[in-house]
Parts: sequence; structure tokens; C-alpha cells
Amino acid sequence: MNKNMKRLFYLMTGMISVCHYMEAENISISTPNTTLVLSAEKGEDLKYLYYGEALSSEDIKSVEYAGMYNHSAYPVYGMVGKGETALAVKHGDGNMSLEMCITGVRKEKNDGKETIVIEMKDRVYPFYVNVNYAAYDDVDVIESWTEIRHEEKKPVVLNQFSSAYLPIRRGEVWLSHLYGTWANEGRVAQEPLNPGMKIIMNKDGVRNSHTAHAEVMFSLDGKPQENNGRVIGAALCYSGNYKLRVDTDDTDYHHFFAGINEENSAYTLNKGERFETPRLAFSYSNDGLSGCSRNFHRWGRNYKLANGKVERKILLNSWEGVYFDINENGMDQMMCDISSMGGELFVMDDGWFGDKYPRLSDNSSLGDWVVDRNKLPNGIESLVNDAKKHNIKFGIWIEPEMANINSELYEKNPDWIIKAAGREPVLGRGGTQVVLDLANPKVQDYIYKIVDDMMCQNPDIDYIKWDANMSIMNHGSGYITKDNQSHLFIEFHRGFEKVCQRIRDKYPTLTIQACASGGGRANYGLLPYFDEFWVSDNTDALQRVYMQWGTSYFFPAIAMASHISATPNHQTFRTIPLKYRIDVAMSGRLGMEIQPKDMTEEEKSLCRNAISQYKDIRSLVQFGDIYRLISPYDKLGVASMMYITPEKEKAVFYWWKTEHFCDQHLPRVKMEGLNPSKRYIVKELNRIDNEPLSFEGRSFSGAYLMANGLDIPYEHKVDYHKKNDYASRILYLEEVK
Ligand code: GLA
Repeated sequence: MNKNMKRLFYLMTGMISVCHYMEAENISISTPNTTLVLSAEKGEDLKYLYYGEALSSEDIKSVEYAGMYNHSAYPVYGMVGKGETALAVKHGDGNMSLEMCITGVRKEKNDGKETIVIEMKDRVYPFYVNVNYAAYDDVDVIESWTEIRHEEKKPVVLNQFSSAYLPIRRGEVWLSHLYGTWANEGRVAQEPLNPGMKIIMNKDGVRNSHTAHAEVMFSLDGKPQENNGRVIGAALCYSGNYKLRVDTDDTDYHHFFAGINEENSAYTLNKGERFETPRLAFSYSNDGLSGCSRNFHRWGRNYKLANGKVERKILLNSWEGVYFDINENGMDQMMCDISSMGGELFVMDDGWFGDKYPRLSDNSSLGDWVVDRNKLPNGIESLVNDAKKHNIKFGIWIEPEMANINSELYEKNPDWIIKAAGREPVLGRGGTQVVLDLANPKVQDYIYKIVDDMMCQNPDIDYIKWDANMSIMNHGSGYITKDNQSHLFIEFHRGFEKVCQRIRDKYPTLTIQACASGGGRANYGLLPYFDEFWVSDNTDALQRVYMQWGTSYFFPAIAMASHISATPNHQTFRTIPLKYRIDVAMSGRLGMEIQPKDMTEEEKSLCRNAISQYKDIRSLVQFGDIYRLISPYDKLGVASMMYITPEKEKAVFYWWKTEHFCDQHLPRVKMEGLNPSKRYIVKELNRIDNEPLSFEGRSFSGAYLMANGLDIPYEHKVDYHKKNDYASRILYLEEVK
């Protein structure tokens, strides 16, 4: 078809659509500031019409005439030619085609959200798909997912099963997404969407935010800006393998699909069985990337994260302080130290367990969750009592989905691990680690029991660091039938969720951290069961500025564990001043990851002061609205961001240098999000300078601060022997009443 003929063809189909849509019933799905409009006429396919800023009821009616819309809202394979699809199946009789039409539309209302269910059936086969949209009435997020089932005589194979699809009008659309691996998680990548297919995916099996993240943002008005421009964000809520596709074909739209990664995961669906896809959460904002982040954060805290409305404790984690060298006196000393600095919780990391096979390094004992009596003769109970003595809470590390081949668990249950039939298992960390087969209900019960026994024996345990340090490296389950081995990844995560749900049902207020070789499990599919995640095993404050920046695109500070660690840093060997390490950690969920007995009194006192000041701003950081100001990725020599209370009466401003040269010229950072007509008094937190800053205690209008910002000195005015690089500042702003 030549260009003109093609245009004519589109015009004709457009005209046909107009006539057709005149009869159509338009459904609008609304949040406070956004609207999604669909055409849902009985007997026809579900069509997408609009997603963006909230529309009036008149515009909702007329929107279908504003463009030549002809997008199925859930495209299926087999009858529509070459376009990308969300769902592709092989029917019991071998037929590979689908053609869905609407049989009904239902509305349900619960928990502050309205769900619209569009029921569809294949025109020929008893094959059914419900497309669901849930809209919140207090936050601009819409979740979409599907339920698939059939009544065919023979099983149907699902070859592709996306959660949702969204067409995005071409223009100058840029994609922002996160990438990274161990010790370098949450890095931001931004690129214009060009013709071709962009795929973001994970096939680790266990840790699904290493290598890539299941969240993206589309900036619709050119190069992404933090505080301006229209942005659509999307987060796939799933703990397992995923695939996000953006197809930029020869039409006027980018085609965005997201769902479980179907590679090596074809699913055989039996008659009457219901297959539910994970939810894809959409958000739209007119206020740039930061605006979209604020929506995800609010939704995350209010509806997704476990205990998202409860302030987090300030903790010391033992890992970088002692690694595997656990003993009673050492733990007591660390508890005493963190308590004396004002901390509220101590977490004993790896190395405390194993009887026949004591855990001395990373190559044994996973699975044997009994205390190592050589290291801890009086057991966990005495540590919990020690914590009480120091007036703090106690937490513990486990890695319950895993085993080592040198463990009593593996000796007793060699068939409980994931491995290919007839082959030796592929071994992971320490050369001996294996992944347990969570598809197996016995394994699920065993994992539940690990946590339940531990909590029954020590009800005062307040926190669990739940780790997962291996991928699914070989494909095979001894529990799943031979014919259904391709269900492995899906069944593993169903099993995982079941266990997590049982634990949450019994222990709703227990704090549980998702750790997976650092930041391998930052995803909204996991967060309903976890209170927070470990952002990265890399605690280098400078690199954390980059990683936490990216992670904050989708996840609120309350979920981002951010710890003050030793210098030189154990991962990068960089030497960074303590003040800077503190100032970075204080922008997330503050903790420490250090051996306090190696700290000087002066360092301890700096931390004591910081912990006390963090307590004052904790609710602002953990529940506030984020405004990112200058990105470290822009390489301007400084990164800066702030949190503001929704009422805009308090704010905290962070400023971190990202490089240091003599005669350096850094931009003066304009603030955002304040109330222009309020006046704010400025106070520096964690001051180390001999003299206060010129603006200390002075007040400025929000309008001035947003138009000009404050000129922050590039270096600290300290005694000569205390001078160093990497200056940083935290300013607290409070409305003058
Ligand atoms: C993983 C975690 C670390 C630490 C170690 C313990 O690597 O990410 O924080 O808990 O395991 O072995």
C-alpha cells in the first residue's frame, strides 16, 4: 500500500470507527485528577479512547471524535494481522486465534477504589477474559489486570498473557527506566522512543529488580523533566519474571504492554481454572517525573507497602560491622552502641545459625535455621533479652527460600530443590547454594514454619531481614508434573506469595525487609508483604545518591533502607566524610551498617546528633511529598531534592556535591513545591561548620525560594585538619506562623 492509499485506508477505518462509536457506550475510569476512557459496546471488542488529565463529562462523551482511535484495549492474537498483542493462546483443538467481544460490564466498589470489570468472550470458543480496571478515589493511580478462563473440552495453552496494554500517542516521547545489578541498582536510563521494539525484562526467577526494574515512565513532552511536563508512569506489581514491551511501529502510537515474562513459561490452563495476571499500576501527572513519583509514593504507602503508614525504626545492621563473625558479646556491644546513639533496633545479619553445619562463611547451612550454640550459647532468647536491656528492639536475618547442599535440610529433602530432572543441580553462592522449590506445598509449609517457629519461640522479634541470594539457574521442579514444567516460574511465585500471605495474616505488624543480594527485590508485587527493601549492598554514599535517586522514581523513602557505613567504603573503597554519609542516609529510611566500636567518640556524637535530628524530620521524610530538583545524572556537580508535607508547612532540603574541584561553579538550586505565599524559616541540620550559614534562622517566602533558592557554600568552614571533599547540606524549612 502506498502512502496515500494508506492514509485513505486509515481515514476510512477512522470514519467507520466514528459511526461505530456513536453507538458505543463510553466508560470512564477516574481518579482525582485523571481519566481513562474506553468504549465498551456489547458484542464488540473493548477499545481504548483516552488516558490523561481528568476530563469533564462532556469531553468524555466527545473524546472519541477527537482522533482516529482504533485500538483494542486488550489486543489478542490471531485475527488482527501484524500488531503486537497482549494475549495469545492455542485452543484445545489446535486453533491459534482469538476474537474477543464484550458480554457485560460490571462495577464494584471497595476499599476506596472502584473496579470496572469488562467481561469478554471469544466469538466462537467458550474462552473468557475479564479485563479489570481499579481506580483510587484519593490518588492518581489506576490498576489494570485480567482474569482468563475457559470451558473448552481440552486444556488451552497460554503463550502470551500480558496484564495490560496502553497506546501512547507518538510525539517527542521519552522513556525513563531503571537498570543495574548487584552493588549498582536503580540506575536511571532515559532515551527517546524510536522506531522498533524496546524490551525491559527479567528472567532471574527470584530477584526481579536486578538488571532491570518493572517500572517505567513516559515523558510525553520531550526530554524528561523533574517538575514539568506530562508523564505516564507504570509499575508492574509482580515478584517474578516480567516483560515490558514498547513497540514503536508505523502507526501514530507507541504500544506499551506489560506482564509476566512468558519466555519458557507457556501456561496450560485447564477447563474451569482461573488465571489471574499481576496488576499493572498506571499513573499520570502534569508535573513531570517528580509529580508521577509523588502519585506512586502515596499509593505505595497507602495501599501497597506493608504498614505503609507506620514510621520506621532507626536500626543498626550487623553485616558490614562483623560479617559472619557473630558472638554473644559482640552482639551485645553493638546493641549497647546503637542504643547509646539513639537507635531503636538492632538486626543480627547472616552467620548465626547451623548446628551440624555451622554457617562460618557463605558456603553452608542455609536451611538449618537453628542457632549455632558455639557462637550463641544462650540462643536468640538471650539476645532478645539483651535488646530489652538496652531498650531497643531485636531483628534477625534469614534466607528461607534457599538451602546449601551442605545442610541437614538438603540431606533430608534432596527433592525439595529446583533442578532439572536427571541432572546435577546448578550451584549458586558459595559454590553450594540451591533454590528451594516453592511450587511444592511441603516447601511452602516448611518456610512458613521457619518464621512461625521463630516468632512463637521469640515473640519479641520485631524485624526480619528476608534475603534471597540466588537466581533460578536450572529449570525443573520435582513437584510439578512433567507436562507442566513450563509453569515453574509462575508456580514458584504463587508459592512465594502464599507463604508471604500466611506470614502477614499471622504477623501483620512484624517489620520485614525484602533483601535480595542487595536491591534485587524492589517491586510493588512484593511490597504488600514487606515493609521496606534494602536498596543495595553498595553503601558508598556517593553511589547511593545515584541509586536512591533512581529508586525514588517509584518507591517512597519509607521503603528505602539507607545506612551509614564505614570509610573507606567496603564496596567502592572510597573515603567519604561521615557528615556526607549521614546526609545521604537521612534521605531514606535511616540506619547504620558499621562496627560502632571502631568509631571515634566524635563520630559517634555526630551520629547521635543526626539520629536525634532524623527523629524530628522522620515523618516528613517517610510520608512527605518528594520534589527532585537537580539530578546527579545531569553531571552538574551537585544533586538536590526535597520532601514537603502535604500541607506545605514543613520541608527538608538535601544538597550533595557529586564532585569536587577548586574554583568550582555549581548551580544555585531553586526549590519546588512550597507554598509561594508562606514564609519559611531555615535551619541547617547536622551542622559541622564552625559558623552558621548566613541564612540560618532567617525566613524567606516560598515564592523567593522557588524562584531563586539559596546560595549554598561549596565547602564546609571547619578547622584545617577536618577539611575534606564531598560537601553536603540538609536544610529544614518550617513555616513562620
Ligand atoms: C546478601 C545481603 C547482604 C547480607 C548478606 C549476608 O548479600 O544483600 O546485605 O545480608 O547477604 O550473607
